[in-house]
Amino acid sequence: MGSSEKVLRIDGFSSPIFLILACFILVENSTALGLGGDGSLEMVVTDPENQFPGSSWTSQGFSIPDVVEADEWRMVEKKGNQFMVNDKPFYVNGFNTYWLMVLAADQSTRGKVTEVFQQAFSIGLTVCRTWAFNDGQWRALQKSPSVYDEEVFQALDFVVSEAKKYKIRLILSLTNNWDAYGGKPQYVKWGKAAGLNLTSDDDFFSNPTLKSYYKAYVKTVLNRVNTITNITYKEDPTIFAWELMNEPRCTSDPSGDVLQEWIEEMAVHVKGIDPKHLVEIGLEGFYGPSTPNRVQYNPNTYAQQVGTDFVRNHQVLGVDFASVHIYADSWISQAISDAHLPFIRSWMEAHIEDAENYLNMPVLFSEFGVSTKDPGYNSTFRDALFTTVYRTLLNSTRRGGSGGGSLLWQLFPDGTDYMDDGYAIVIAKSPSTSNIISLHSTRLAIFNSICSWSCRWGCKKKNPLWAFLFADDDA
Ligand SMILES: *[C@@H]1O[C@H](CO)[C@@H](O)[C@H](O)[C@H]1NC(C)=O
Ligand SMILES: *[C@@H]1O[C@H](CO)[C@@H](O)[C@H](O)[C@H]1NC(C)=O
Ligand SMILES: *[C@@H]1O[C@H](CO)[C@@H](O)[C@H](O)[C@H]1NC(C)=O
Ligand SMILES: *[C@@H]1O[C@H](CO)[C@@H](O)[C@H](O)[C@H]1NC(C)=O
Repeated sequence: MGSSEKVLRIDGFSSPIFLILACFILVENSTALGLGGDGSLEMVVTDPENQFPGSSWTSQGFSIPDVVEADEWRMVEKKGNQFMVNDKPFYVNGFNTYWLMVLAADQSTRGKVTEVFQQAFSIGLTVCRTWAFNDGQWRALQKSPSVYDEEVFQALDFVVSEAKKYKIRLILSLTNNWDAYGGKPQYVKWGKAAGLNLTSDDDFFSNPTLKSYYKAYVKTVLNRVNTITNITYKEDPTIFAWELMNEPRCTSDPSGDVLQEWIEEMAVHVKGIDPKHLVEIGLEGFYGPSTPNRVQYNPNTYAQQVGTDFVRNHQVLGVDFASVHIYADSWISQAISDAHLPFIRSWMEAHIEDAENYLNMPVLFSEFGVSTKDPGYNSTFRDALFTTVYRTLLNSTRRGGSGGGSLLWQLFPDGTDYMDDGYAIVIAKSPSTSNIISLHSTRLAIFNSICSWSCRWGCKKKNPLWAFLFADDDA
């Protein structure tokens, strides 16, 4: 510690700037935080102008780190029901931006990738989920089975190397259940073109040839050597996890057996190539036949017939954590109603509980949001929705529960509105939502930081910092 340090006791937070500054210091320099004799927290404050190697403070908040220390940039691991990095907990406030690879493939739009990472970093987001596939479409990575476009692969290399610059880790999804970016229907088209007798898109999950196409694709991506960093994808700590598929459903088999077998086969396939990274399935989280007492938490009765089964699917060997999506507006009613927020809370709490009781793994709410196109939409409602998601998670964090984090759907930089599906959040245009996101980032960063030296949940009652972490505020 340098000579300009002075010890400050946190007695309360007088101004928002101090508060954010205090949190920033906690994040960056957690070893300076210690327990005072009376059990209150103390921390060491250094001159914010120039004292933090690797990062600098600006009036806007977090700013880009100059270097990422090699020994800080470790693989994310799972221990019990928590994510850990370097033996510290890693609670996630993150986002989705699915199109990064495709925009990186053109020089004219490549800058948008950097912009979105920059903006995410500025509000403290640390994980991005994006598509590491584009099957047979415009700017395809996989043009046909086992035929790759090297230029697009280099665009994915760029996405991975750029993410690291902003200390953002990536969840890379390996194909889609839906036809956007090719996905399951494209694999079936390839199979038909090769003369296979396929009758349904769900043949993707059971036909041996289609499974071999997918496996070959996965193997190629995981073994890819990044042309910018020289790091093999399967060795790169920038990658948080592999996702088998975005939102798999197998409606032709409501028993769930077909999808279950596919998950069993593919999770082991990924782990066999890359034992270091975490693996998740990509499910929306619907309860199925294995848990008749839980289907009441589904948004509707159809949800239990789509061939997925939250608890059973996640009990598969090789699956490290659970995923859940949250779309009250597409599952309950497009028009926003009083039922939406209570649904979101009970949907989340049920999955957190199951992840604790049956799965012993963290659960990531890997897509949530609300569309500006919904009847009854306004930004106040969006803010209330975000607050509900974040508070429900903090309630889990506080007691060391399975709620591992959330990824909003979806973050867009300026000038990409033409791709907006209604859910896009542009930080500059959404100050109130951005503040809520930023506050949540700060809280999680404090949790991750406090626990870096001592993680005894619940022992710091009446502490002012604790009060900040659990304050029942709205912004
Ligand atoms: C294709 O498969 C279906 C169902 O599996 C079967 O009923 C049909 O006879 C098959 N068609 C041919 C040409 O083999
Ligand atoms: C990657 O490897 C190539 C060839 O071995 C080398 O020329 C280049 O400097 C390396 N780049 C980095 C970033 O390490
Ligand atoms: C915002 O939307 C919600 C949900 O549709 C509605 O209940 C509320 O009255 C709206 N508030 C404003 C200020 O328009
Ligand atoms: C916090 O979680 C507990 C246990 O799941 C639940 O009973 C309680 O209602 C939750 N409180 C809030 C404010 O969400």
